[in-house]
Amino acid sequence: MIDLHCHILPDVDDGPSDLEGALAMARVAAADGIHKLAATPHVPYSGLDRAQIAARVAAFQEEIDRAGIDLRLYVGADAATSIGAEALAAHPLHDGPYQLIEFPHTHLPADAGELVFELLNRGRVPIITHPERNPSVLRSPDLIGELVAAGALVQITAESLTGGFGPESRACGRHLLRNGWVHLLASDGHSADWRPPVLSKGLKVAGRVIGKAAALKLVVDNPAKILAGEGL
Ligand SMILES: [Fe+2]
Repeated sequence: MIDLHCHILPDVDDGPSDLEGALAMARVAAADGIHKLAATPHVPYSGLDRAQIAARVAAFQEEIDRAGIDLRLYVGADAATSIGAEALAAHPLHDGPYQLIEFPHTHLPADAGELVFELLNRGRVPIITHPERNPSVLRSPDLIGELVAAGALVQITAESLTGGFGPESRACGRHLLRNGWVHLLASDGHSADWRPPVLSKGLKVAGRVIGKAAALKLVVDNPAKILAGEGL
């Protein structure tokens, strides 16, 4: 499996505080069957620019290899929409046209559609992170349908489907799945024990909602195409 949203880098934003914690996360991911993973620090919260994220990823990859863990890292970012389309465009997932965008945790801004449009116009394909945890979406899930119709993709958090973010996010995640508005399942992992990089449990639930083959696409086929820069 491939996890395209994870805060795994040591001593970066609210991920693991040290190398041991980061390696513990890498071991959890590999044990769960995740062998490719995008390191996606918060931007701008981490204070890192693209080159600095890439350097941290390369350094941590060396540690992962030295520890004998079967995990390949890719450069990404969990970029806040508040920085605007131009700054967002500097933070692709790997080197392709796709990128994670994070709306404020409190609401979906009125100009969300405009931002999606602006990114698409720049040749960027925005992937909206965990909308099932956003209060505006919990009230009106169809807002996500509109953004998907406009060309955005959607990533939901695996742990939402297993109830880790409460019954409302769980129900909303299932609703988005049933409507075909979900393109990726990711861990949004932050540590080896609290929000670990685990996809298998969420995959099981997704399989019950949309069928096993469709669920597998969210953790295997779609993320592979995204890393390769191919259309879904
Ligand atoms: Fe995140």
